[in-house]
Amino acid sequence: MKIGVFDSGLGGLTVVQAVTEVIKGAELFYIADTKNAPYGEKTTEQILQYSLDITQYLINKHQIDALIVACNTATSAAIKYLREQYPSLIIIGTEPGIKPAIEQTRTGKVGVLATPATLKGDKYQDLVNALSLQKDVTLFEQACPGLVEQIENGEAHTVKTKEMLESWLHPMRENGVDTIVLGCNDFPVI
Ligand code: DGL
Repeated sequence: MKIGVFDSGLGGLTVVQAVTEVIKGAELFYIADTKNAPYGEKTTEQILQYSLDITQYLINKHQIDALIVACNTATSAAIKYLREQYPSLIIIGTEPGIKPAIEQTRTGKVGVLATPATLKGDKYQDLVNALSLQKDVTLFEQACPGLVEQIENGEAHTVKTKEMLESWLHPMRENGVDTIVLGCNDFPVI
């Protein structure tokens, strides 16, 4: 099986690592769209166009059987249209892990870190609406502009990155958040 995988940069490699542990013998083709990164601060229309272009390229060049959108931001903006456009292609997306967070929280307060575009997207809102019927929790949503660039530029562990994180996480700690969702696949790096 030929599987295409894409992300705006290197974050999707965290997904590739997980895929190679469970799927043996598949041929993987990875695209890091560093020319257009970061996606998280682009418009829905731009992210949609990048996603369509990459998918078409993977089909033309590598005849992929399946596509993994290894990016929360592109999944939020484009997966619905990709599935409409390519009905015979298996398409798998990436969504913030709110479900396990809701199951695990003891304080009922969950922080969600993601890119601005992911949090603005309808797909994210649909996920939150569906899951909030399961349990009464308070979500502290935090868009993290600039964080993906820090990570992709190899500056994940600098003072500037720590200060950015502190400014977002301090209010969560103050409010009793006990579970944090890493809603962008670059964030496991930090
Ligand atoms: N890695 C992408 C994600 O999972 C976002 C990175 C970006 O903003 O380009 O959301």
